[in-house]
Amino acid sequence: MRPARARIDLGAMRHNLQQARKHAQGARVMAVIKANGYGHGILRAARGLAAADGFAVASLEEALQLREAGIDKKILLLEGFFEPDELDTIAARQLDLVIHQPQQLALLEQTRLAAPVGVWLKINTGMNRLGVAPEQAVPFYQRLVDHPDVSSVTLMTHFANADDRRDSYTRQQSARFYQCIDGLDAAVSCANSAALLFASGTLGQWVRPGIMLYGVSPFLASTGRDEDLKPVMTLESELIAVRQQRAGDPVGYGGAWVCPEDMPVGVVAIGYGDGYPRHAKTGTPVLVRGQRASLIGRVSMDMLTLDLRNVIDAQIGDRVVLWGDGLAVEEVAGCSGTIAYELLCQVTDRVRFLVEQD
Ligand SMILES: Cc1ncc(COP(=O)(O)O)c(C=O)c1O
Repeated sequence: MRPARARIDLGAMRHNLQQARKHAQGARVMAVIKANGYGHGILRAARGLAAADGFAVASLEEALQLREAGIDKKILLLEGFFEPDELDTIAARQLDLVIHQPQQLALLEQTRLAAPVGVWLKINTGMNRLGVAPEQAVPFYQRLVDHPDVSSVTLMTHFANADDRRDSYTRQQSARFYQCIDGLDAAVSCANSAALLFASGTLGQWVRPGIMLYGVSPFLASTGRDEDLKPVMTLESELIAVRQQRAGDPVGYGGAWVCPEDMPVGVVAIGYGDGYPRHAKTGTPVLVRGQRASLIGRVSMDMLTLDLRNVIDAQIGDRVVLWGDGLAVEEVAGCSGTIAYELLCQVTDRVRFLVEQD
């Protein structure tokens, strides 16, 4: 069997959820498990995060997968509905939905639902992606309260720069938010992982952590470990060849690495067809039997090559960790010109997922 596999440590996930609770100042935790649980598997994530107060997803399909698995807690559709005919199912399956723009509100007002739904009104305080203008917050809130089929209204916003602790924009967005909802008697929700760990300002009734629950730091210059988080996904494979190359030998496509001296080169059964980033640079770290080694040359679809000069007695069958336990995915992302969110999300189906500490 091809050895490319992703170990999913649900114990680590439970630990990370506890960390989120510790920072939440009593706010309820809406665990963000969209994009297939940030690549970990949506149902696996829901299992590991079973103690959360609710789950946030990006589509009705994701929400229905959770309901069909018997999950009856609060589920929030972060982008609301895409087509008006989704509203019937949203009501029937008791899903909460975000309303983020005037047309959505108008469509909701034209619809009578079979059962009342909870609505989260998203206010744009500076992210400038989704959300109604701050001056619309009060009239839109009122229209939602007046809707006969809206059971509750939660006011929310999303921060653009919370990953940078030194950036004052988060404080500005927060001030704008609390100013425009002043006097409204509603639950509020602002914080993603970064804002939650940063613990700046009031967190409100609901926090919405995502990436930290998977053990990854939401900040630019730290790793999950620095934030007392534990990695949930360990991506690993094995050495399937160890070759002794001569000085001057090119390795892999394009001969992008040329051996500077006689040296051992390892071949690992994992590549961009598994979701390992093709743009990972020569020098990107991996662990071979726990010892650090470096990627060399171009990543292929099914394989990648390693400089084994620092690895004692490397052999075919040795376990290779690409990220996770002992090697921060943030570090690999940094060597690949991307962020850990993307690496986790793009692990493909042909990687075997193994669940641990269920
Ligand atoms: C509206 C909203 N809230 C919360 C989150 C979770 O963010 P993070 O994964 O950075 O904690 C996201 C993620 O994109 C989001 O879109």
